[in-house]
Amino acid sequence: MKHLISAADLSLDEILSILDTAEEMSVVNDRDVKKLPTLRGKTVVNLFFEDSTRTRISFEVAAKRLSADVINFSAKGSSVSKGESLKDTAQTLEAMGAQALIVRHHASGAAHNLANSGWISSHIINAGDGKHEHPTQALLDAFTMRKRIHGSHSRGKSLDGLKVLIVGDVLHSRVARSNLLLLRSLGAEVRLAAPATLLPANPNFLGASYYLGLDDAIDEFHPDVVMMLRVQLERMSASFFPTAREYSRGWGLSAERLARLSENAIVMHPGPMNRGLEISSEAADSAQSTVLEQVANGISVRMSVLYHLMSGETRE
Ligand code: CP
Repeated sequence: MKHLISAADLSLDEILSILDTAEEMSVVNDRDVKKLPTLRGKTVVNLFFEDSTRTRISFEVAAKRLSADVINFSAKGSSVSKGESLKDTAQTLEAMGAQALIVRHHASGAAHNLANSGWISSHIINAGDGKHEHPTQALLDAFTMRKRIHGSHSRGKSLDGLKVLIVGDVLHSRVARSNLLLLRSLGAEVRLAAPATLLPANPNFLGASYYLGLDDAIDEFHPDVVMMLRVQLERMSASFFPTAREYSRGWGLSAERLARLSENAIVMHPGPMNRGLEISSEAADSAQSTVLEQVANGISVRMSVLYHLMSGETRE
């Protein structure tokens, strides 16, 4: 594997290998000395054209725990503001010694274009491209589900038959797309619940069936996992729902809806959360919530992805 651009690029064997290696990385992350020499002498660049807390920092921590050097590039404050292109920016960073670029960009396809342009020879990891994909988020979500279900016996296990309900702003969500692709490869049954205005034009999005009411979805589907999506106000040029209060009443995971889930069901959110809009504090902070586990697992999963892409090379 040279790049990680889409969850669809991963075979079941590759997904299981990444998740199993992440289990080993999580053991390292529980030690006092959380460090492996695997990527000593390599340089990893976080190339971020959009804001991020979790993804950027967890890739930085992951690369450092594998002993790589890390350069953080943020478009804000860089020569991008003087008109420098993605090509010139990437070539400049590679000239400084980068061997992997972790790319977050507002344009769908930006990471794919870099990987296939011939401009550079670095590994490219898609850390979120517009509304398109966020494959490492899907991997860490799958890892979190597997760990909650199978505990310390997760290695080699798929998510066969697991019922996952993805709720909310599907239209603007790269997390929804990557999760649909990855979870299906792992054998999960994934359904959507969203207002019609926040579903893609073809509502059978990637073949998933959908509900136009959250209460119906909970009562009929009895999900094992409820994944709440952030309402992406920054990507909305029009009004997709009447008021925040109305959205919260119809689509928010309230304390009452949380109580109607099965007691073993888990509540996920990729973050950052809009508390009081798509998720209540009662749900976000409940014992069923995996929000902070997802963040912690993100480090192990991203260590595993870097390991899979970069560890086999001869040091330059
Ligand atoms: N889940 C996620 O991608 O969060 P950040 O935008 O903070 O990276």
